[in-house]
Amino acid sequence: MGFSESLFLFFLLFPLSKIFVAEGLGVNWGMLATHPLPADIVVKLLQDNGFDKVKLFEPDSEALKALGNTGIQVVVGIPNEFLAPLASSVQTAVNWVMQNVSTYISKDGVDIRYVAVGNEPFLKTYKDSYLGTTFPALKNIQAALIKAGLGAQVKVTVPLNADVYQTDNDLPSGGDFRADIHSLLVSIVEFLNDSACPLTINIYPFLSLYADAHFPIDYAFFSGTSSPIVDGVISYTNVFEANYDTLIWALEKNGFPSLSVIVGEIGWPTDGDPNANLDYARRFNQGIFNRIIQGKGTPKRTTPPDIYVFGLIDEDAKSILPGNFERHWGLFNFDGTLKYPLVMGNGRNLVPAKGVNYMARKWCVLSPGANTMDPNFAESVDYACTFSDCTSLGYGSSCGGLDVRSNASYAYNMYYQAANQKIGECQFANLSVLTTTDPSQGTCRYQIMIDVSKHERVRKPTTSAAVREQKTVIVAVLLGLIWIISIML
Ligand SMILES: *[C@@H]1O[C@H](CO)[C@@H](O)[C@H](O)[C@H]1NC(C)=O
Ligand SMILES: *[C@@H]1O[C@H](CO)[C@@H](O)[C@H](O)[C@H]1NC(C)=O
Ligand SMILES: *[C@@H]1O[C@H](CO)[C@@H](O)[C@H](O)[C@H]1NC(C)=O
Ligand SMILES: *[C@@H]1O[C@H](CO)[C@@H](O)[C@H](O)[C@H]1NC(C)=O
Repeated sequence: MGFSESLFLFFLLFPLSKIFVAEGLGVNWGMLATHPLPADIVVKLLQDNGFDKVKLFEPDSEALKALGNTGIQVVVGIPNEFLAPLASSVQTAVNWVMQNVSTYISKDGVDIRYVAVGNEPFLKTYKDSYLGTTFPALKNIQAALIKAGLGAQVKVTVPLNADVYQTDNDLPSGGDFRADIHSLLVSIVEFLNDSACPLTINIYPFLSLYADAHFPIDYAFFSGTSSPIVDGVISYTNVFEANYDTLIWALEKNGFPSLSVIVGEIGWPTDGDPNANLDYARRFNQGIFNRIIQGKGTPKRTTPPDIYVFGLIDEDAKSILPGNFERHWGLFNFDGTLKYPLVMGNGRNLVPAKGVNYMARKWCVLSPGANTMDPNFAESVDYACTFSDCTSLGYGSSCGGLDVRSNASYAYNMYYQAANQKIGECQFANLSVLTTTDPSQGTCRYQIMIDVSKHERVRKPTTSAAVREQKTVIVAVLLGLIWIISIML
């Protein structure tokens, strides 16, 4: 590309990219995948879709470097297992902030705005594991940020699950903190309030539905309900507003009516449960994006919160203890392809990731001649599913309707792809065979995995190509200057 063309493109593209960024579109970037998308592709995906805020669950170095100088605001999370060491000494927190915050800001130009201390540490299922360490860790990280001169720029917060508050009378106005951690929460909230830092809360209407079969399904979405919940003068037509306002009431009741609140996670999965489907996920997430784009608050607090949707891409290595749906929260599939259309800011549609490299188009399937009565059959399918992601095979899931043969093929293929199509990984007791015909049927997609090694290989030449391009531009500028000078002389 010539210099004048670059300049032209620069002036042409720069203002456009500014216009297209919708205000406050946030998303969680989780990385628990066997074949994660390369960080530079994910950052481009964020930019192409107008996301200007991203939340990371840990200070992943590849991700942070790729986010440098993009203008995207970043929340850096601290995993729960670091809470104990961080609680035990300020020096540990000082080191943590130096390595995982300060350096990325000063060296890589990352716009870090928040450090999220722990991740849902007071979840009932964790019992009391983090009750003693969360608040001291929060205070130490805050002290370390101030010491690093980042007190004004980087705020601390604690992302809490919505089960830290409750209501006795089923109405938001009955909201208060959970009795067993009431005084701890008041102390944390007071600290956040005094430090001008926000509280972060994760709200999951899908989980309300998952936990209670009688939950009124239309109350989960944003298009009204025949039986709203009437709380004084307010009629609640969706569970998000009712849940969020329960927290606002709890804060008010304990003396913090104006504490700022971030919605750290909210979303809807697309697979792994009958209610985790494309239609519901599209309805719910479109409703959330519309609220963000319209700057809509709730009846009790009209100022809209910052919202981070969960999540960006599917994560096939997440624990499925909560349910098979855990690996399917992404707005995008594992490879950055679209699941369903969404209208983002300025009426633009969601666009997929670009430049993804895949492994060869070949699938490992049950051999046509194989007998499902073979003594090794059941064991081989179980084995394949033990070492790969079979969460789409369950009841009501995208591949839940397969017959026993296609079911085995799906399992074999997931194993083969997870094993990077290595020779010898499609040998299930002589029952399997390779095919180049895509076995996908109906809603069930037989995947081809991302070629992670190819991405690692191309990264280096790409960098040097970029350097070469920079050099070309510099040479062009110099030649131009020489030319101007020669004319002037
Ligand atoms: C920075 O964060 C990483 C990832 O969580 C962690 O392994 C490392 O120990 C942290 N650095 C310091 C100095 O604490
Ligand atoms: C919360 O912070 C605000 C603003 O700094 C302050 O005016 C208020 O007194 C604080 N509330 C409590 C209960 O500490
Ligand atoms: C498919 O395979 C899984 C994993 O072995 C098994 O749990 C399930 O029952 C199978 N379904 C059918 C229809 O064979
Ligand atoms: C697979 O087939 C080969 C050749 O027919 C045979 O030697 C081998 O024992 C078989 N392996 C299994 C696990 O059945």
